[in-house]
Amino acid sequence: MTTILDTAALRAIVADLGVDSVMDEMIERLRTRFASHDPKQTETIQRTGFAYQKPELGLIEWMPTMQCEQMVSIKTVGYHPGNPTNRALPSVLATTSLHDTTTGELVALTDSTFLTAVRTGAASAVATDLFAPDHIDVVSVIGCGAQAVTQLHAISRVRSFSRVLAYDANPDVAASLADRLPASLSDAASVEVVAADDLPRLIASADVLCTVTSVDPGADSVFADGDHKAALHINAVGADFPGKMELPDTLARRAVVVPDVIDQCLIEGEAQRLTVDDLAADLAAMCADLDAAMQHRDELTVFDSTGWALEDMVAAEFALEHARRLGVGVDAELQLISDDPYDPYRAVER
Ligand SMILES: NC(=O)c1ccc[n+]([C@@H]2O[C@H](COP(=O)([O-])OP(=O)(O)OC[C@H]3O[C@@H](n4cnc5c(N)ncnc54)[C@H](O)[C@@H]3O)[C@@H](O)[C@H]2O)c1
Repeated sequence: MTTILDTAALRAIVADLGVDSVMDEMIERLRTRFASHDPKQTETIQRTGFAYQKPELGLIEWMPTMQCEQMVSIKTVGYHPGNPTNRALPSVLATTSLHDTTTGELVALTDSTFLTAVRTGAASAVATDLFAPDHIDVVSVIGCGAQAVTQLHAISRVRSFSRVLAYDANPDVAASLADRLPASLSDAASVEVVAADDLPRLIASADVLCTVTSVDPGADSVFADGDHKAALHINAVGADFPGKMELPDTLARRAVVVPDVIDQCLIEGEAQRLTVDDLAADLAAMCADLDAAMQHRDELTVFDSTGWALEDMVAAEFALEHARRLGVGVDAELQLISDDPYDPYRAVER
């Protein structure tokens, strides 16, 4: 039997826990998993896929990881930045499959569109909690689409702040951001939309900055280098493809850059323009050595978030555990298995 976590199952889980608890639990699960990460026990293969320009710019890729002697998780994710404006679909659409490593059976198949948004926000919250000052006032965001919602929500679960400064190249998306934020955040913080020529103020005012744009590969940085607070922490989330970067070169070179996955960030992240020697320890290592992380509290820090397959495994396990607790999800015989393992035709009419 395969457990299918369909939209009804995920809605039931969120209805039971509430979005704040969903986010809190995802942050804690990631933090714990990062801190105990052992690369000998959790193997991740470099993600790969198909990238294309037609019919529109996009890619479909797969992100595998294995918890040795337990489970293989494979997320299949599409990124089509024309989706929201051209057909009212999210840019990021994903599913994750979990496979038993003893038998190879498909244990679960789950939506990962919602789960990706939650885990991407949660990973930034883990980094923000490590590197941002204890007391902050302003969180700025560049790019106000789907991921911006969970970035702001997740950060609000680890820090209190009263103001959000927001910019998006599409003014309609920026204008609707406040209406898309969960109540716990919109009750606590005001959202001010700023114009492109006011970006220097958005940067200079920020204690924490999230860049979450669908900037094109090869395009200019999404803001210009300039004044910022000495202890600014940046969650750079949009760079996840060769040639696609959001930060100004000069800023990336003087910051403490903490990658999620070092090899992946050197290919796809803000670290593309850096060498491995320019990078700090990865986020998992920082979670395991809090004293080392705290040394960067007063500095300009960048969490180079490209998306780690381990995060998707943690998110899928979260959903599966809660689905079993609540008795939701659909159990289906997806794999046609014969009584006689040597006779595939025994399972079907001859
Ligand atoms: N690191 C991760 O784990 C991870 C996970 C999911 C998505 N992503 C990436 O995050 C980014 C955002 O994803 P999303 O789902 O929110 O997409 P989205 O389409 O919902 O929103 C992206 C927004 O960025 C805006 N934008 C594009 N270029 C801009 C620019 N130069 N300045 C300001 N705004 C600009 C667009 O107008 C759009 O509103 C994508 O690049 C995606 O690949 C990363």
